[in-house]
Amino acid sequence: MANPDKSSSAIAYVYRGTFVHSTQQTALQVQEDALLGVDTEGKIAFIGEGKKLEALSQVFEFSPSEVTQLTEHEFLMPGLVDTHIHACQYSYAGTALDLPLLQWLNTYTFPVESRFKDLEFARRVYTHVVKRTLTNGTTTACYFASIHTDATLLLGQIANDFGQRALVGKVCMDRNDSVKHYRESIQESHDETCRFIKEFLNKKYPLAKPVVTPRFALSCSRELLEQLGKIAKNNNLHIQSHISENKEEIQLVKELFPESESYTDVYHKYNLLTDKTVMAHGCHLSDKELAVFKETGASLSHCPNSNFSLCSGVLNVRNVLKHKVKLGLGTDVAGGYSSSMLDAVRRTLDASKILTIQDPKHETLSFEEVFRLATLGGSQALSLDDQTGNFEVGKDFDALRVNVAAPGGPIDLIHSEGPKTLLEKFLNLGDDRNIVEVFVAGKKVVPFTEPKAE
Ligand code: GUN
Ligand code: ZN
Repeated sequence: MANPDKSSSAIAYVYRGTFVHSTQQTALQVQEDALLGVDTEGKIAFIGEGKKLEALSQVFEFSPSEVTQLTEHEFLMPGLVDTHIHACQYSYAGTALDLPLLQWLNTYTFPVESRFKDLEFARRVYTHVVKRTLTNGTTTACYFASIHTDATLLLGQIANDFGQRALVGKVCMDRNDSVKHYRESIQESHDETCRFIKEFLNKKYPLAKPVVTPRFALSCSRELLEQLGKIAKNNNLHIQSHISENKEEIQLVKELFPESESYTDVYHKYNLLTDKTVMAHGCHLSDKELAVFKETGASLSHCPNSNFSLCSGVLNVRNVLKHKVKLGLGTDVAGGYSSSMLDAVRRTLDASKILTIQDPKHETLSFEEVFRLATLGGSQALSLDDQTGNFEVGKDFDALRVNVAAPGGPIDLIHSEGPKTLLEKFLNLGDDRNIVEVFVAGKKVVPFTEPKAE
């Protein structure tokens, strides 16, 4: 519990009930009959025991009668962090999953992404994806957009208007032989990335940041990779890309970059592995490559729905954790067909069980560990854990109010259950009907208030 000092802000609201979150030490910490106060700046001002209501109300100067009491089937948990999602691919999510990665990109993905030159189409799809992910409880999303600067700026604006915390990347690619008009020259990619960053930062969004986004090694020349590494360094920006997703891709990277020892080495050579880098997939990384991730502080986004849907591989999360590499979960829409992080949680558990079936010595992930990956782990993978990821005093209040027994929802509670079981049921069986309120930086963003037209 924190003591307010002279500089602290007034309390905006207080919740009383059950709170669940992860800490550095424990995957699942449950606090029953607890109090959580949020200040007028959207930060967690205090967490304390319910029985200390009177004392806390005097220290923090709030009225005990205005405290919101959660019901016995409700709890607060940190918001879900989607560390890898392609906003434009949302337009065909749930279809086109019959080809392996490289053929899938050429046949479905590039033709669709090329349509985002059209700002009205982009506005329609991006509004849907931001609203859908927020409803699903994604308080932080790390987005790939398309190569189009203006449409990508629009994605940043839409995320900001709806109040989602977002990292937003204009895709960079100067190699692509399948859809000829869907690629840039090196110069264009460099100049448009600089324009994107400048215009994005000029907006001074409180919760949205630009990300340097080389699509993957196969779609970027050495020169472009080098320039993007420099841009990220000079502006101290986040970086996102893909790595070691499927075996055909890895073989082609080997052929295209014979001077590099490994796929990881290609990115490392161009300074694209930093403690603000998140790489999607990494299904087939060697232990030596994982050691480079650890050394550089770069993280992985585990996207099991996509890995299964495109038959790419099965990441051994336990091994990644043993190497102390930061790891979060991602939906990878639309290689992954679901935009819900609850699906990513379930597929992560499935992937871990598949590894146990193959090797009984493999230590299956627990639901508590996967809960941590979907919340605190994601915030660490995106280097945003100083602001979000759990209910530490001083962090922004990014949270879901979950009602496991929501009327008309997917869960029937037959017995009276403890909080740990309620969380497990929600993770395995729940959906947006159970997510009754979503907060980002203290602001209630679900249910929506539609942003005002300019
Ligand atoms: N590798 C390069 N681009 C993509 C993409 O759009 N989706 C996935 N899953 N992998 C990629
Ligand atoms: Zn992806």
